[in-house]
Amino acid sequence: MSVGVIILAAGRGTRMETGLAKVLHTAAGRTLLDWVLEAVGMLDPDETSVVVGVQADEVTSGLAEGIITAVQEPQNGTGHAAMVGLGGFTRVHDIVVVVPGDMPLIKAETLRGLVERHNQSAAAATVLTVKLDDPHGYGRIIRLDGDVAAIVEERDASHEQRSISEVNTSVYVFDGALLAEALEQISNENDQGEYYLTDAVSVIVAAGHRVAGFLTDAEEGVGVNTQAQLAEVAAVLRTRINTTLMESGVWMLDPSRVYIDAGVDVAPRSQIYPDTYLTGDTTVAVGACIGPSVQVHDSVIGADAIVVHAVLRGAVVGENSLIGPYTYLRPGTVLAGGTKIGAYVEVKNSEIGEGSKIPHLSYIGDATIGRDTNIGAATVTVNYDGHKKYRTTIGDRVRIGSDTMLVAPVMIGDDAYTGAGSVITDDVPEGSLGIERSSQRNIPGYAERRRLRAEKESEE
Ligand code: UD1
Ligand code: CA
Repeated sequence: MSVGVIILAAGRGTRMETGLAKVLHTAAGRTLLDWVLEAVGMLDPDETSVVVGVQADEVTSGLAEGIITAVQEPQNGTGHAAMVGLGGFTRVHDIVVVVPGDMPLIKAETLRGLVERHNQSAAAATVLTVKLDDPHGYGRIIRLDGDVAAIVEERDASHEQRSISEVNTSVYVFDGALLAEALEQISNENDQGEYYLTDAVSVIVAAGHRVAGFLTDAEEGVGVNTQAQLAEVAAVLRTRINTTLMESGVWMLDPSRVYIDAGVDVAPRSQIYPDTYLTGDTTVAVGACIGPSVQVHDSVIGADAIVVHAVLRGAVVGENSLIGPYTYLRPGTVLAGGTKIGAYVEVKNSEIGEGSKIPHLSYIGDATIGRDTNIGAATVTVNYDGHKKYRTTIGDRVRIGSDTMLVAPVMIGDDAYTGAGSVITDDVPEGSLGIERSSQRNIPGYAERRRLRAEKESEE
């Protein structure tokens, strides 16, 4: 049996108030459209046709290869959109599944159940429905002898019909040939002047076919029309992600305060504390402990690493490393195993060797540091002369004294030292001490003389 999927994604989303096409808004790291595409992908459809209109190019450019786009211009309603979507197919499918692009909570298993039910019944169409405490704004399901007789839009519903709590989700399965016939017959004679897909149901029923209703959980039927609904669906998606992770052996102190995007990989036996954000292309290995208050984007965190109060972007943290508190790791940071990057330290575009430590108050940019090296407190790689960036290279087992300014380009050899407070502008050879500061002078009796002078001045 051949399966075609039509996704309705041409609408404006005016009430989002962003100017961005509605389906391009993101929730838990994916666009609304991508969430829907993931769910329908599980049906293994022969063809998927996405109906685009508003910002058609932007919507289209994010689509995977093999997905058909059909441009609806102007947007003359859901029935018109379905017709445009059908036009994108290369052939007539046995069944056509229609899903709106703004329903990210729809589950693959629900779609599968809907299609199964449709195939087992003799119905020409099956409508996915939900029961809502407040059905306001939705199309109401009019049932007759258990089947669906019609879907009546809020604006066209009688007082009595408005009290019906079962509503249309806008997800349907149609017999492919009958859908095409029915869409030919619907009209736009309603107060919006639009072609309603819901009218295809009445047309199919009037032609003597059965239309069935398939009830699912209210949660899945939430469509995103406003920022408040976007936040609501994002919260549900996050809960699903966190629940799946916890089931796989991830520990969370308080999952309601953990924000993990779809696609982030978190291994079992890791521990996540509150106010942790794991986004983008991020991987967390076994036994890592992250949070509280950590933002990680496009980064890799190694096994058993500990990250506390930190911001990481495009960084790689080796296993057993210790990051934080108050640490900023920027793109190009690659830390080998067993490193320690401590309080008020910023690292950018630098490789740090195994077991090396930058414990306090330092800036390390454009540097290569060997293994088992210690960078003293308040060390700075002076990598920028206002025009160009330069590299600092530091060897193995080096001891950089506190408050060393390493004026790049500069090289510090293996086993070398720098004196605290030095401004190092020349290379320090292997095993040497680089020291640059004027020798200290102590002035005896200074305090006493100062006191006497002050007394004399106040007498005058
Ligand atoms: C629609 C249904 C209503 C249902 C509700 C569920 C109709 C007439 N009504 O109403 O019964 O309860 O969804 O959320 O179908 N779209 C296009 N092109 C268009 C118009 C819409 O692609 O010309 C897309 C939108 O981008 C959206 C989907 O179709 O993804 C639904 O459109 P929307 O305008 O939100 O329909 P509702 O009025 O909410
Ligand atoms: Ca809607």
